[in-house]
Amino acid sequence: MYFKFLFLIVLLGGLLHLNEAQTTNCSNNCILRARCNPYFKDLVWTVVDRVCRVYQNGCFFGNENCMRANRCLPPMVATSREECMKEIYCPRMCSRGAPPVCAWFPYTLSNGTTGGRDMAFGSRCVLDSYACRNAQAYVNEPRIGRCT
Ligand SMILES: *[C@@H]1O[C@H](CO)[C@@H](O)[C@H](O)[C@H]1NC(C)=O
Ligand SMILES: *[C@@H]1O[C@H](CO)[C@@H](O)[C@H](O)[C@H]1NC(C)=O
Repeated sequence: MYFKFLFLIVLLGGLLHLNEAQTTNCSNNCILRARCNPYFKDLVWTVVDRVCRVYQNGCFFGNENCMRANRCLPPMVATSREECMKEIYCPRMCSRGAPPVCAWFPYTLSNGTTGGRDMAFGSRCVLDSYACRNAQAYVNEPRIGRCT
């Protein structure tokens, strides 16, 4: 009897929770968005959905976590470069079929000149793999399609 009751409570609790999750509006979870300096390189490594992602610095990383919070997603957690570069997260080979992408990589020359260049990749997977293998962060979401 007691156990049945407990079961009911758990069941109801689960349903209520589910309902709450469906109607939760996260869009106000995080409103602090900073302007980040793309030329300040202080890489943050993280594994997101089993893919190693490299962020140019903590500002970009924080902004991405802010946007994730607003989409009700859990925050990304920084990890070590070694962990991120494991073959399962930073693959040498990517499966075919995904569309090509164009990503913007900022750089700073030794004389202090800053700039950025668009680079084309066969797919998002090839791009992310390039980024982690070369410890080079792209800034902003890559554009789908060829670089123009
Ligand atoms: C969430 O809340 C914001 C502001 O309160 C509103 O603009 C937006 O339309 C809401 N979204 C949903 C899916 O209810
Ligand atoms: C820095 O080096 C680049 C490439 O060598 C050159 O084009 C640029 O004019 C230099 N900038 C300054 C401020 O010296």
